[in-house]
Amino acid sequence: MRKVPRTRTCKPNRTVSIIGTGSYAPEHILTNADLARMVDTSDEWITSRTGIKERRIAGPKEFTSHMAAKAAQVAMEQCHIRPEEIDMIVVATVSPDTFFPATACHVQRLLGAKNAACFDVSAACSGFLYGLEIGQQFIANHTYNTILVIGADRLSSLVNWKDRNTCVLFGDGAGAAILRSRDESYGVITTYMGSDGSYGDILSMPGGGCALPVTSENCEQHLNTIQMNGKETFKLAVTSMQNAALRALQQANLEFSDIKCIIPHQANIRIIEALADRLKVPMEKIYVNLDRFGNTSAAAVAMALDEASRKGCFEIGDYILMVVFGGGLTWASSVIQW
Ligand code: UT7
Repeated sequence: MRKVPRTRTCKPNRTVSIIGTGSYAPEHILTNADLARMVDTSDEWITSRTGIKERRIAGPKEFTSHMAAKAAQVAMEQCHIRPEEIDMIVVATVSPDTFFPATACHVQRLLGAKNAACFDVSAACSGFLYGLEIGQQFIANHTYNTILVIGADRLSSLVNWKDRNTCVLFGDGAGAAILRSRDESYGVITTYMGSDGSYGDILSMPGGGCALPVTSENCEQHLNTIQMNGKETFKLAVTSMQNAALRALQQANLEFSDIKCIIPHQANIRIIEALADRLKVPMEKIYVNLDRFGNTSAAAVAMALDEASRKGCFEIGDYILMVVFGGGLTWASSVIQW
């Protein structure tokens, strides 16, 4: 019988670290006061119900890939990685530039990362942690050495700007992380991911795919924009992030007292406060930037990670917990030793 050549090694798994982070937010700021001139809302309502004060909106020619590439460049500069060294680009997004090519391929072209295998991950707001786990696996098992994971979304293009229930919540942005194995033991300790497709309807964009293609009739009914049952999403967000956070800690064999900083999905301050309450952790331990960026979907936790690390919220050796939820439903949590 013909021998199948072995392409994988049998070496023990490697530890995988985040060696660089970056983020990007478009220049244009849309404040609550601006929104109050567009729909029947107020700064008071948005601030008290969500904690959001302003969000960034991409320019008309600024696509998801442009924001993703800018975040990636910041991350690459931080850890001195050249584009040719990147073996794989994973972009988590639900607002791709095009259905295909994947946004990751657009990013590859923009960066000149000619040696990378590129693809997108669709897990809504949970996508960055899904991408992190995919990258982690490929490095741990010695398939690749350097992986760029990006969470990027331009939800301003998926929002119905006449629907006050949703248009006040979202913003545009991108966050990136470079993964590599380091000799030190720091790195991704554990990641837990889960989904429940039976809740797909509570947060979705029903149109645009093969089920409801882009037709003038479907567009008139706003089926190609975000549809959300806010109250139901709120409840499931708290429960799924609570369970995911506990699961990751259990897998990592750690207590909340061991964690220096918790970075949750940035959707609504009331969701984060309810989570803190259920987990019995003080809000001071939780990183929040949704007041300035709103909910940037897959970018949110990645942007917050970059910002928190640059502000010195944690140092080498500290444990961080990231926890997210999103449409699907999807959820995920990751414990990292920085
Ligand atoms: O990445 C995941 C994305 N999604 C989420 O995380 C969303 C989770 N859900 C939420 O954050 C909250 O449910 C919302 C912020 C969306 C809504 O807050 P709420 O406290 O659940 O408000 P509600 O939906 O119960 O609405 C209360 C009232 C309603 O008026 P009536 O029926 O009581 O007269 C709404 O029509 O507030 C009204 N309302 C608004 N009023 C002013 C809804 N949106 C607005 C608005 N401005 N923007």
